[in-house]
Amino acid sequence: MATGQKLKIGVLGSGSGSNAQSIIDAIAAGTLDAEVVCVLTDVEDARILERAATHGIPAQYISGAPFKTKLEGDAEQEYIRVLKDYGAECVVLAGFMRIVKPAMLAAFPHRVLNIHPALLPAFPGVASWKQALDYGTRVAGCTVHFVDEGTDTGPIIVQRCVPVEPDDTAETLHARIQVEEHKAYPEALRLLAADRLRIVGRRVEIL
Ligand code: GRF
Repeated sequence: MATGQKLKIGVLGSGSGSNAQSIIDAIAAGTLDAEVVCVLTDVEDARILERAATHGIPAQYISGAPFKTKLEGDAEQEYIRVLKDYGAECVVLAGFMRIVKPAMLAAFPHRVLNIHPALLPAFPGVASWKQALDYGTRVAGCTVHFVDEGTDTGPIIVQRCVPVEPDDTAETLHARIQVEEHKAYPEALRLLAADRLRIVGRRVEIL
């Protein structure tokens, strides 16, 4: 968005919001030239709401009903409306536990990003760190990607890896991956904010 203006980010999350926090912290530290204009959640008491409030960021619960694992129909339209009202230019999925659908992608073309706790295309879906542990991989990691109409299939922007240690539990491995997530999301958003990302087929070129 090389307009001289800050990239306006709308964050969607369902849980703790540690990735949202890493983005807020990067902005506060002056290492990410962007603004979080709103935080939206489909979970009424999600901790991400408190995190936003602490930083004076508008935060709102919007039900995703009647669906449980996707955002579609009226609920999707409401999310889009609120994001646009706040002036969001890109949508950052940060632990948002629903699949977003074509209407959202059309409202923010090539501007919906997700973070996934695995080195895609390995281990899409849920609890990916546990999938990696159960499979016996020696490395695990995280991926920030553009969202397309598939599940965890969009063009990859940033990946970071961590070792899997012999005594790892699902929890210790997830915690190690999250340390890298908190670097990866600000890094991807820095590139987006600087207008340095070009999608060429499946690949993302970094200019
Ligand atoms: C992260 O592990 C992220 O990769 C996954 O959901 C988790 C969200 O964590 N999509 P948090 O709410 O950002 O702490």
